Amino acid sequence: MKRIGILTSGGDCPGMNAAIRSVVRTCLYEGIVPFGIESGYKGLIEDKITQMTSKDVANTIQRGGTFLRSARSMEFKTEEGQKTALANLEKHGIEGLVVIGGDGSLTGANLLYTKYGVPVVGIPGSIDNDIYGTELSLGVDTALNTIVSSIDMINDTASSHDRTFLIEVMGRNCGYLALMAAVTAGAEAVIIPEIKYSLESIIDKIKRRYQEGKTRSIVLVAEGAGSAYDFGKAFALIGGFDTRITVLGHLQRGGSPTHFDRILGTRMGMYAVKHLQDGKYGVMMGLCNNAIVPMPLEEVLSNKKPLNTELLILADVMS
Ligand code: ADP
Ligand code: F6P
Repeated sequence: MKRIGILTSGGDCPGMNAAIRSVVRTCLYEGIVPFGIESGYKGLIEDKITQMTSKDVANTIQRGGTFLRSARSMEFKTEEGQKTALANLEKHGIEGLVVIGGDGSLTGANLLYTKYGVPVVGIPGSIDNDIYGTELSLGVDTALNTIVSSIDMINDTASSHDRTFLIEVMGRNCGYLALMAAVTAGAEAVIIPEIKYSLESIIDKIKRRYQEGKTRSIVLVAEGAGSAYDFGKAFALIGGFDTRITVLGHLQRGGSPTHFDRILGTRMGMYAVKHLQDGKYGVMMGLCNNAIVPMPLEEVLSNKKPLNTELLILADVMS
């Protein structure tokens, strides 16, 4: 394999730059010409493809987001768009492609592989940690650090005023970020889409905690379970609490990647190139027992990542 392309697609996440840098530098080390494709599948269709040098990736590992930029492309979902993308890969003589992104982006990568025979390797990038086949995706660790330090700050002011804070965190339909943050920042309750909850029992628990001498309450709401504003209204009305709402929003997706996300991106990037070189296509690089292992994209996409039940128990015991 002489020419490899790389793109980042869908929602960005910290650590993407580390993975791009690693793919580029591994390619150069192996005598392969790397090509950066701007703005995901959109740039592939629009032929925004340029050869990359080692210098192009200098000073990028510490930066959040993706310097190749990311996009969502409706056109790529059409056969016409896919054929244009394919023609552009051929035009540049690109023989292998590394796709970094979430479920949607990996679906696009799998389609290029199964329908058109393009050698592809995926790297899981999404703060949601909802991708099957990897214990952690790129960006999760950084996002959690941001969420936890934000909750720590809210905790300070909440304690001074005996307030009940409802804090909404991202995660799309997955409660992982909320659950993990509940355990590691401390929360009286966590509401996630995977688990049925009883508003009344959460309110009773908060009342009990106040009676026991707690000076504040934190309730984490995963965005997939509903709006913290709606929960806040109900808590104030039924529980009579002095409630405040914080929606952490997109700050969870930014920031300099943690050491963990830098090494994860660097490892996954190098192994992605090695798999392409070895003719092992149609796979995603996954983190399993601290090793980077390939998982067929078909399997990744046809399975739902199970909820970590140990975290559920921890959240309950610690609250
Ligand atoms: P993420 O990768 O973060 O899950 P999206 O779900 O928005 O983000 O997907 C990113 C892009 O991947 C889409 O804009 C589209 O170009 C491509 N994609 C998603 N689903 C498909 C699909 N079923 N077929 C082809 N391409 C897809
Ligand atoms: O998938 C990552 C994510 O940040 C989700 O947690 C969130 O629901 C979504 O993307 C937000 O997407 P956008 O940036 O398009 O508003």
